[in-house]
Amino acid sequence: MSASQTERHVGLIGLGTMGSALALNIAEKGFPIAVWNRTVQVTRDFHAKAGGLAAMITPTETLAALVAAIRPPRAIILMVPAGQAVDDQLAALAPLLGPADLVIDAGNANFHDTNRRNAAELPFHFMGLGVSGGEEGARHGPAIMAGGAFEDWASVEPMLHAIAARSDDGTPCAAYLGPEGAGHFVKAVHNGIEYADMQMIAEVYGVMRDGLNMAAPEIGDTFARWNDGVLRSYLVEISGIVAKAHDRLSDGPLLDVILDAAGQKGTGRWTVIEAQNLAAPIPVIEAAVHARNVSARLAERAAGQAVFGPVEAGGADLSTEDLEHALIAGKILCYAQGFSMMSAAGTEFGWDLDMPAIARVWRAGCIIRSAMLNDMAEALAEDAGRNLILAHFFANHLRRSVPALRKVVATGALHGLACPALASGLAWFDMMRTARGTANMIQAQRDFFGLHGFKRLDGRDLPHGPWAEA
Ligand code: 6PG
Repeated sequence: MSASQTERHVGLIGLGTMGSALALNIAEKGFPIAVWNRTVQVTRDFHAKAGGLAAMITPTETLAALVAAIRPPRAIILMVPAGQAVDDQLAALAPLLGPADLVIDAGNANFHDTNRRNAAELPFHFMGLGVSGGEEGARHGPAIMAGGAFEDWASVEPMLHAIAARSDDGTPCAAYLGPEGAGHFVKAVHNGIEYADMQMIAEVYGVMRDGLNMAAPEIGDTFARWNDGVLRSYLVEISGIVAKAHDRLSDGPLLDVILDAAGQKGTGRWTVIEAQNLAAPIPVIEAAVHARNVSARLAERAAGQAVFGPVEAGGADLSTEDLEHALIAGKILCYAQGFSMMSAAGTEFGWDLDMPAIARVWRAGCIIRSAMLNDMAEALAEDAGRNLILAHFFANHLRRSVPALRKVVATGALHGLACPALASGLAWFDMMRTARGTANMIQAQRDFFGLHGFKRLDGRDLPHGPWAEA
């Protein structure tokens, strides 16, 4: 069945920030769209402000009217909060839709929920779509990670390609990644990496602020400079912009008056939980999630400072070049962990996830877009099963940048400047480059107290220690 034979007519439920932006994007790309929001006034206001695109948009005031306004076969995009709201919406749509219709959950769903909904006997087709890029992306070109039945993807592929971001070589950043919740799973790992990228940037910001006594605008200039090099990425770019922002209320840098407690909606945490289930090490992402949790404990941190004293400002013997290289190393290590986790998931869930395709989808539109993803896509295309740190290109980068990472982590430790994500990356790297590790001690301990046994290096048959004789 070709895509054109099955091409669907589109509706969208949920006109919040992301839903509104996505609906305008779809209309702008030439796809007429019917929209509905639980609060009628929101729909009316949205349509009234749609300007030249209003003619492409049919506002509706009931769910039944929405369904009636879309010619079958329908594709209805859900942009409602993840969780129960999605199940409620599916239940409400069930009596209204036909078996040829398709409902697409484009929110940040937990992929286990998407798996469950795929397995459920819904009276219509269902697919889960990971969408990244914030409001700007949704409006002008997000990165799209699709999961579900391939035929369902094929029936909306022309529209999704039309609304997606494009990489520098013109490829749409929208791809079918696998069955069930594969799209939402990849989106969760994207968000885990997003947390880690943000955390590592925050750590080098902290070293510049507290270890090098740099003012926010100077830090902003440093990020802007880095954004012209290997670190070129959306997150480094916006970090430069926010560090340079001026606050008119305090007449000083805005960053200096923002409370240092990070929020989270949970996608990073889901990634970490899933990594533990898969026994897939992603310590940089774990450190980033921990760091957000620690950041929220403002009163405890203040009490800690009162007991142990503040970190001494200044005096760190580091250059901004050291920090740039540390960030390059940390980024490579973090992405290597993320891709390795997705490989493990692909095997575990039988999804056959296409690693180079994932790297290519992330090249534009999404929050973690960066120049480095081009090189990652190439390295994964050469050998998708090999850990990224072993790919020639990235091994060379690491040889050059790990000494700086070591220096930054060591200096941070000596000065009390917390760099949990960078330090976790370094520890993981050192384990990954050590052929003879230390788990022989753990095996011996396990055998001592539980007779768990061990394998010997020499292959000889004496699987327990002489503990009874000890
Ligand atoms: C994106 C973002 C977006 C959002 C997440 C993370 O890819 O566009 O990941 O989905 O920022 O909800 O937000 P939290 O930091 O609140 O978890």
